[in-house]
Amino acid sequence: MSERVGDIGLIGLAVMGQNLILNIADHGFNVIVYNRTVEKVDNFLANEAKGKESIIGARSIQDLAAKLKKPRRVILLVKAGSAVDDFIQQLLLHFEAGDIIIDGGNSEYTDTRRRFAELKAKGIRYIGSGVSGGEEGARYGPSLMPGGDKEAWPFIKDIFQAVAAKVDGNPCCEWVGSDGAGHFVKMVHNGIEYGDMQLIGEIYHLMVAMGLNQDEMADIFADWNKGELDSFLIEITRDILRYKDEKSGEFLLPKIKDSAGQKGTGKWTAISALNYGVPVTLIGEAVFSRCLSALKNERVEASKILPGPENKFDRNKTDFIEDLKQALYASKIVSYAQGFMLMREAASQYNWDLDYGSIALMWRGGCIIRSVFLGQIKLAFEQDPKLKSLLMAPFFVDAIKKAQKGWRNVVITAVNLGVPTPALSTALAFYDGYRAEKLPANLLQAQRDYFGAHTYELLGEEGKFVHTNWTGHGGNVSASTYTA
Ligand code: 6PG
Repeated sequence: MSERVGDIGLIGLAVMGQNLILNIADHGFNVIVYNRTVEKVDNFLANEAKGKESIIGARSIQDLAAKLKKPRRVILLVKAGSAVDDFIQQLLLHFEAGDIIIDGGNSEYTDTRRRFAELKAKGIRYIGSGVSGGEEGARYGPSLMPGGDKEAWPFIKDIFQAVAAKVDGNPCCEWVGSDGAGHFVKMVHNGIEYGDMQLIGEIYHLMVAMGLNQDEMADIFADWNKGELDSFLIEITRDILRYKDEKSGEFLLPKIKDSAGQKGTGKWTAISALNYGVPVTLIGEAVFSRCLSALKNERVEASKILPGPENKFDRNKTDFIEDLKQALYASKIVSYAQGFMLMREAASQYNWDLDYGSIALMWRGGCIIRSVFLGQIKLAFEQDPKLKSLLMAPFFVDAIKKAQKGWRNVVITAVNLGVPTPALSTALAFYDGYRAEKLPANLLQAQRDYFGAHTYELLGEEGKFVHTNWTGHGGNVSASTYTA
């Protein structure tokens, strides 16, 4: 076929790629599809895409480039890392200035920044887009977070917003920002996903410690899913708790090995939080909790040696279930507040003009962390786009005010029972730290100055760094000041 019929191309026929192609085709666009193993193209056309004339196969990158309308637009949905660079190199042989390459994988934003700059120099418009929602999302409406070369946005906007999830008619897809902004926002989405999952896991652990059975737990999650906690992750937790193994007729969940895997996006979020000096403690704990869970054999050994408290659960169950709900809600507010703090810091480092209300809307539907709660976050940023922290938004100040008694009860009870709740606890510690006018960092500064002459500032004389000869026999020379 020599005719340029393709509105967009898609490379990578794994399940996400296949579903996104079907979704794009459903919205009236012609898609040229290609995969490194070309048999996959044939199989896809003969099966999932059978009878769909708007899905057209390409047998090579050259063939793909020849079938695309200009400026060419192509989405890469391949494994993050070197595969993306390899395909870009191949595309460059057949693409020309003005053409658009979109990476829809979970790429590290630093790679996206590098690729954006390299391709800009060649006149190619590069987009790194977060794509969230798993297989279902890709097929029926993902959350899309495109960033990179803004010149490309008018050429992809129609397609992206047509295929994205909708909430009250609004697409969960908007322009995010330049170079790596789209992938950065997707990375934070994934970090928050880790945090939400960890929080739900800790609540489940406490429910087990309370002696609830799985039907009771499922009913509680079903009930929570009707209110402010209404979200995809609560919904699937309810369904997982109810799920019985077909063969045995028994619940599947207790039979699954308690050792979590991870592909790295949560870790990247925690690393960038450390790099930028933003206290994103909850996501950090969520990543470490997965690491601790993976030490299964060591934990089994330790469980036989290390004593815990003898206490038994002795609270009123109905009251405590309400406390759990409050603890989950308040901790979730802290986690999102931390995630948005991280985005704000990265935005100032990279000059991204992030619209936080619009990011909340992008996450409101289609993605793994989709929830009713994100609607409130969107409103908070709409009311005050310069909001320093979500914790300061009147709606959330009030929400935490109501939730904090239950939240504190849950952390106290968990400590007494010896049930680990790192995410619920760190959220509370962050909250108490964030609202503290004074922290003990004065002592820390004094210690640093005592042993290393690192200097300190006196209250009321900020900006003037002084050193004290604490022992009388140290010198008066201070160490050079540096900050991490
Ligand atoms: C999404 C998800 C998805 C990610 C998994 C894997 O937004 O659809 O975030 O992009 O692949 O959640 O995460 P882990 O394997 O690291 O748990």
